[in-house]
Amino acid sequence: MKKIICKDYEEMSSIAAFILAEQIRNKPQSVIGFATGSTPVGTYKQLRELYDQGYVDFSEVTAFNLDEYFPIRQDNDQSYYYFMRDNLFNHVNIKPEKLNIPNGEAADPHAECARYDEKMAAYGGTDVQILGIGRTGHIGFNEPDTQLPLATNLVDLTQKTIDDNARFFASADEVPRQALTMGLNGIFTSKHILLLISGEAKAEIVRDLFSGFVTTQNPASLLNLHSNVTVILDKEAASLL
Ligand code: PGA
Repeated sequence: MKKIICKDYEEMSSIAAFILAEQIRNKPQSVIGFATGSTPVGTYKQLRELYDQGYVDFSEVTAFNLDEYFPIRQDNDQSYYYFMRDNLFNHVNIKPEKLNIPNGEAADPHAECARYDEKMAAYGGTDVQILGIGRTGHIGFNEPDTQLPLATNLVDLTQKTIDDNARFFASADEVPRQALTMGLNGIFTSKHILLLISGEAKAEIVRDLFSGFVTTQNPASLLNLHSNVTVILDKEAASLL
């Protein structure tokens, strides 16, 4: 894995935004896997600025988001559907019909997961997949376990993840207990994985990520097996390396 240690969150975001903008400039029909959470907010802000400056054009880009809470209404301001529109999609010229996010309102979540994988496979996977990492080592909502799903799946969130995400909700009770998440296959078929990591709270999991071992108990560690991963992290996240 290629590692870029940045002086701060701002620099991490600029580098990530620039890599994404270059990808889209070189291949206007890029398929981008987007992620949510606090970490990529700065990247999306910088991408909006690059778009405003005319540097990047999203008109041919297709988006596949990594995950979504389940169940959740799309108009809930904590849904990832809402997050992506608020942080990026409403501010650039990406076409609504090219946006794909697992549907947290689906009547049959298992059918929704199968539909999502079929559609992603029809595009041949993503050109770039943006990822964050949870303190548990989760990627998407693939939490530590003895086995990890290959397919897009309905999964139970761990208590640690519910607690981490409670800050966005009125209380921990309101955090959905499940999510639809791209599985390991969806993530690994990406041609280039861009893993963004910020802050001291992630320092331990970053140390484990670069320990030289892989384990399903730290799903992100499996990224060591992918041939094209760029980890962009700030110096707080890198403090135990
Ligand atoms: P965060 O979440 O960016 O809000 O820390 C990352 C993740 O859980 O993947």
